[in-house]
Amino acid sequence: MLERRQPDNASDYVAILITKFLRFFADTFFSKRYGHRAVVLETVAAVPGMVAGMWIHLKCLRKMQSDRGWIKILLDEAENERMHLMTFIEIAKPNWFERGLILFAQALFWHFYFILYVFFPRTAHRLVGYFEEEAVISYTAYLEQVENDLSLNVAAPQIAINYWKLKPEARLIDVIKVVRDDEAGHADVNHKLADTIDEDKHSAKNIKQIEYKKEEPDFSTANKNNINAHQSTTLYNSTSLGEISLFNRIVMAPLTRSRATVSGVPTAIMADYYSQRASAGLIIAEATQISQQGQGYSWTPGIYTEEQTNGWKNVVDKVHGRGGKICLQLWHVGRISHTDLQPGNQNPVAPSAIKAKASIWLQSGSAEVSEPRELELFEIGTIVEDYRQAAFNAKKAGFDMIEIHAANGYLIDQFLRDSSNKRSDRYGGSIENRARLLLEIIDAVSSIYPNNRIGFRIGPTSNFNDINDSNPEELFAYVATQLGKKALAYMHAIEGQTGGDRQNIPFNYDKLYSLFKENGGLASMANNGYDKDLAESTTVDLVAFGVPFIANPDLVYRLEHGLPLNEPDQATFYGGDEKGYSDYPFYDK
Ligand SMILES: Cc1cc2nc3c(=O)[nH]c(=O)nc-3n(C[C@H](O)[C@H](O)[C@H](O)COP(=O)(O)O)c2cc1C
Repeated sequence: MLERRQPDNASDYVAILITKFLRFFADTFFSKRYGHRAVVLETVAAVPGMVAGMWIHLKCLRKMQSDRGWIKILLDEAENERMHLMTFIEIAKPNWFERGLILFAQALFWHFYFILYVFFPRTAHRLVGYFEEEAVISYTAYLEQVENDLSLNVAAPQIAINYWKLKPEARLIDVIKVVRDDEAGHADVNHKLADTIDEDKHSAKNIKQIEYKKEEPDFSTANKNNINAHQSTTLYNSTSLGEISLFNRIVMAPLTRSRATVSGVPTAIMADYYSQRASAGLIIAEATQISQQGQGYSWTPGIYTEEQTNGWKNVVDKVHGRGGKICLQLWHVGRISHTDLQPGNQNPVAPSAIKAKASIWLQSGSAEVSEPRELELFEIGTIVEDYRQAAFNAKKAGFDMIEIHAANGYLIDQFLRDSSNKRSDRYGGSIENRARLLLEIIDAVSSIYPNNRIGFRIGPTSNFNDINDSNPEELFAYVATQLGKKALAYMHAIEGQTGGDRQNIPFNYDKLYSLFKENGGLASMANNGYDKDLAESTTVDLVAFGVPFIANPDLVYRLEHGLPLNEPDQATFYGGDEKGYSDYPFYDK
């Protein structure tokens, strides 16, 4: 389950060496007493490491505008590690002398990490990355040990049950599994951090100049992970997308249904609704705001608070419980919003202060969008970091993938298209500049999810939400090429006008899909007005259905067997309860 990272320079070897030493230390002196090396490593080294790292990052908080996302990520990680420690202390029940020893060892490690973070930040992150890999391996061995009755499968401590929301009857095995998943996530994050930190620039003296290197895609793995050639499978056969296996090539398109709470927390009926549709190859869950500023309509879900993340976790768990795969669409509405929804009732933000002819809905009913204000340059970095944090939360909630919403006239689309972007800085003007925000967001979220678990959605000719471009062919060719080079999982295109005419403006979608894949992208995904015949005859890899999924939880079965479809009720599309949501009937077999 774990791909070990190979060292590629001297500092990586140093990091490995220290990891090996810690491992030897844990094995030799402590593991007999505490049952397993994993627990020992965790207890003495991980927590102080995180705390030292956090301390440094917090100190830099005021100076480093662009590092805010990492701070949030590392804070979460530190809290996570602290919970591992508390849990295993509850399980191992060390005596007071041993607790003293742990404290002493922690103090030692704290200083060690502190020095490392100040002078060799890259090595520090690399070390933590290798260390977490070691932990994943150790926890796997620990799990086997407990499964084979070599260690007692004791009841999970209450703090672990509360923190990971385990069942009340959870045992040690369940705890080890969640901790192991946490560690795999930490390994990923720290290696990515090490990859992106430019060691020369990131020193204690020169911390202001921290830079993240642009990542170069690795085509060799991208091609290995490519989707099974669709030509050899029907729409209904199982396939794979990157490392994820799918029941079929049918995707549930993202559909805003406004059933979350007013504070954007996903509800129990959402878990029912999505799990009913788990027979789709992939569910793309509805557009979900990455911040309060990113919200444009009442009752849409968010993924920036803990409560929202936990709400989504319930949805994901229920879909996974039925074997389904689920992706989250990350959303910032930009100018398509209202002062009532914005933090401090400020104006919504946009690349340029141009109001769209569009409406949104509030608790009080439908309303015109508010006058937007132009984003200051420094605010753009904050939005990028909000995306990174949202991806982190999505991963925490267990989503298999994420999709960046760059369609339908929302923030990213507003930056892309020249009818809404009149900026004269590096985010406006040329195609390269207008696409910069999207590319930066992709780079940010790829520090959380591997690229083969990231997709993006575009609507090259859709005018939805009052948006236009003078040269969509050229603009989206650039986007497809650049994001193809990043070996992303899929490019999802709304062909034509969203929910309307598929040929509103002439556009060669096949060429666009080819461009994405020729450059290293894994799969093409098409949407808009697809029915059984069109979907079965298309050459794209994946076909997304929107409205048909609203009324047909068993859409895949119905399509495959040529059965009639339920009619959707438009009045219950947005907002309300189970009615017109999770109460559509399955076909009576
Ligand atoms: C009720 C409703 C909600 C939608 N919400 C979203 C959304 O959250 N994100 C998005 O990218 N598209 C959204 N769309 C667009 C759909 O994903 C899809 O592009 C559109 O319905 C056309 O596909 P179809 O002909 O298969 O329905 C929504 C469409 C409808 C009807």
